[in-house]
Amino acid sequence: MAEILVRGGQPLTGKVAVLGAKNAVLKQMVAALLAPGQSRLDNVPGILDVEIMSELLSYVGCSVDRHGHTLTIDVPGELRPEAPLELVRQMRASIVILGPLLARCGVARVALPGGDDLGARPIDMHLEGLEQMGIEFHLEHGVLTGSGHLRGADVDLPFPSVGATENVLLAAVRAEGVTSINNAAREPEIEDLVGFLRSMGASIEGEGTAILRIKGVESLNSTDYQVVPDRLEAGTYAAAAAITGGSIRVEDCVPGHLRMELKKMEEAGCSIERGDTWFAVTGPERPNRIDFATLPFPGFHTDMHPQMVAMLSVADGTSVVTENLYDSRFRYVGELARMGADIHIEGPHMVIRGVPALSGCPVLASDIRAGAALVLAGLRAEGETTVGGTGHIDRGYEDLVGRLRSLGADIDQR
Ligand code: EPU
Repeated sequence: MAEILVRGGQPLTGKVAVLGAKNAVLKQMVAALLAPGQSRLDNVPGILDVEIMSELLSYVGCSVDRHGHTLTIDVPGELRPEAPLELVRQMRASIVILGPLLARCGVARVALPGGDDLGARPIDMHLEGLEQMGIEFHLEHGVLTGSGHLRGADVDLPFPSVGATENVLLAAVRAEGVTSINNAAREPEIEDLVGFLRSMGASIEGEGTAILRIKGVESLNSTDYQVVPDRLEAGTYAAAAAITGGSIRVEDCVPGHLRMELKKMEEAGCSIERGDTWFAVTGPERPNRIDFATLPFPGFHTDMHPQMVAMLSVADGTSVVTENLYDSRFRYVGELARMGADIHIEGPHMVIRGVPALSGCPVLASDIRAGAALVLAGLRAEGETTVGGTGHIDRGYEDLVGRLRSLGADIDQR
């Protein structure tokens, strides 16, 4: 099993450029299924989740080719409308293939993903939305089969779920009539999916707001598209400057997509400069205590909470962080405690009493962002930290180790 070895203590300095967003590219890859022909995506990160999604697209009949950061997807006239358990299990995001398969084939058989380390993660809102559009589902032997003729509908989401918004949107672009998604997710990755679908000829209004209006069209065309920068990769490097008291300029990103997270870093004592496509973070010697709660965009992103908690574990004072998106995103906290962090969990709240120093030891990553947080903690800690479970980190970060090393970290992967 691969491990990351970090020897802490160096303030990181320098420049790092961000690649395309994992949570945008995965959805654009399935969206490409909506039109036969060749679609091309640029700025695609070299991460494991893109490989898993490529396998899934190959399984349904596409040929997928990668050259550097460009991905070419050849979509055939006929698709195999199935997603098998071995791929869905490796990556829950596979469930968004449901919408495009229903739109193209009128039927889809998708293994149910089940929960993961972040909690139960049901997909009831995805299914209710598609049912309102005329799809009937039945579940047998762990495989969900959906079939029917897609018709436009008023879909009211009880919560602005990213995945449910995407699945309904991906079906609605080819449905008969107009669909309105009310209480839609407003995440930048959804805006980027709308941009991608529009470049395929879809008719959509309202991206970035809580109401998406989609007029179904009879056919779409293949397309070329540049994926939006990854705000979570950008935010993780910002947190690396913050926790090490370093100074990092993060380039090729959209600072506005991290407004809340950067504001909280400023409250914690970082000084931040912002340009159109870059920002620079200089971390304090010791962070101030802060409080925050995770919320859907434009609130504080749940996928930045573990990295911030790592930073607050060495803050001057006690911070309170509330996790509102996931019911069990706390597994990494026990690992931080092994490094000397003082964190108590009370329901969705974490009470973090800052300690003057962390000390390195072996720790285990349980998900992508937990892995990033433990690496960041290792950068601050005294002595050596080994982070296991690095497969999680590879799912969402291209060469995290190499990039941190280029910023001056004493870090290796073995
Ligand atoms: N939920 C339901 N029912 C549903 C759908 C969601 O109860 O039908 C609940 C979930 O269980 C969760 C909450 O609603 O508690 C939010 O889920 P959402 O559907 O918004 O998230 P997602 O689409 O499953 C995406 C990202 C996550 C990110 C969340 C929230 C992808 C591939 N994943 O997940 O990213 O945390 O949105 O912003 O886009 C990551 O990148 O590390 C990651 C986990």
